[in-house]
Amino acid sequence: MSANSRVIRGRIVSFTDDPATAGLSGRHYLDDGAVLVRDGLIEAVGEARDILAGAPKGATIDDHSGLLVAPGFIDAHIHYPQTQVIGSYGAQLLDWLHNYTFVEEQKFADPGHCARIAEFFLDELIRCGTTTAMVYCTVHPQSVDAFFAASERRGARMIAGKTMMDRDAPEALRDTAQRGYDESKALIERWGGRKRLDYAVTPRFAVTSTQAQLEAAGALAREFPAAYVQTHLDENHAEIELVARLFPAARSYLDVYDRAGLLGPRSVFGHCIHLKEAEVTAMAATRSVAAFCPTSNLFLGSGLFDQARLVRTGVRVALATDVGGGTSYSMLRTAAEGYKVLQINRQSWPAAEAFYQMTLGNARALSLDDRIGSIEAGKEADLVVLDSRATPAMAHRMETAKGDLDAELFALITMGDDRAVRQTYVEGQPAKF
Ligand code: GUN
Ligand code: ZN
Repeated sequence: MSANSRVIRGRIVSFTDDPATAGLSGRHYLDDGAVLVRDGLIEAVGEARDILAGAPKGATIDDHSGLLVAPGFIDAHIHYPQTQVIGSYGAQLLDWLHNYTFVEEQKFADPGHCARIAEFFLDELIRCGTTTAMVYCTVHPQSVDAFFAASERRGARMIAGKTMMDRDAPEALRDTAQRGYDESKALIERWGGRKRLDYAVTPRFAVTSTQAQLEAAGALAREFPAAYVQTHLDENHAEIELVARLFPAARSYLDVYDRAGLLGPRSVFGHCIHLKEAEVTAMAATRSVAAFCPTSNLFLGSGLFDQARLVRTGVRVALATDVGGGTSYSMLRTAAEGYKVLQINRQSWPAAEAFYQMTLGNARALSLDDRIGSIEAGKEADLVVLDSRATPAMAHRMETAKGDLDAELFALITMGDDRAVRQTYVEGQPAKF
């Protein structure tokens, strides 16, 4: 048994509640703490001396004293086929999709390409400390097979789905309403709920799906209530005008999805920047989730996410990279840009709230908080080890943050990236190479 036991020692930081509502009562910090993991689960967390004393004989000891040990980061919206689209110059959403993204996504007809990119993508997430993500694949079922197979081999908890697109895309990237339904259904039956994998029904957005296809997606969501739904919403003004022209009977962009039965607590809508009042109300009433993608929103010139408005009206929010419209795989970088977006709108985002959002907050948004998002006995042992002094400039900055955890976390978010990630554990096993 001891072969499967590991003690991970360090400065444990984890949230069990939202600091925006609960203050710091939900923040748990141990200066010299340890996590005992066994068979992929957290068995105990506490003072290092107690955990070490109670650990099984022969348990592996990973001593990260002085470094932070936190729950693995969670990314609520990312595109694995866009690793070679990142940093494409000069376009806003619709041109960016046609000029860069749809060109790249056609390469995923080749299963060998899918496998290579899936491995690169997962390596990159692990390098950045991200252990769970909600992922768009391409229209090709083989892109989903490759992604889930690679995730399963690593034991990673992932949510993903085939994009359904039956119009306004190159012929090679289009399915039909029926084929999108049939292929998605077969993928749900193959992968949904298997080990640590979950399926997301993924109509890309209202521009590239006909009414018939959105209805087919809604039917899938009804038939498979454990499946998630992911799509894009109210990201860009030209996109919104196009959706209004394509769906003249709809009262709003969100209403297009609502009529197809796509709203609900397992539905994650990327961007949600330009929501009308009725859309905010419907999001809150259906417990749908809005994914804030700051690096993407800045890079594509889409606009500024109004987090305060959504939180005030009871809309559930998540934080996400949206690679490759987004420009970094790092949730630290993403939170740093999120802070700046909110600053422009005169909204505050204390480090504790941002850190909570990357971990338990996103776990809650994805209804996975019974399994991941915090360091508590019984949860899955996905962890990240963070070095707040990873670069000379960070080490220098930390000289003035001594003893103040909020100051440390804020500087870590502001200056940190993959260089600050010293190790990432997936199911209690070191996964960063
Ligand atoms: N809307 C539809 N597809 C996409 C995509 O791939 N990225 C972003 N940022 N927005 C989209
Ligand atoms: Zn996206």
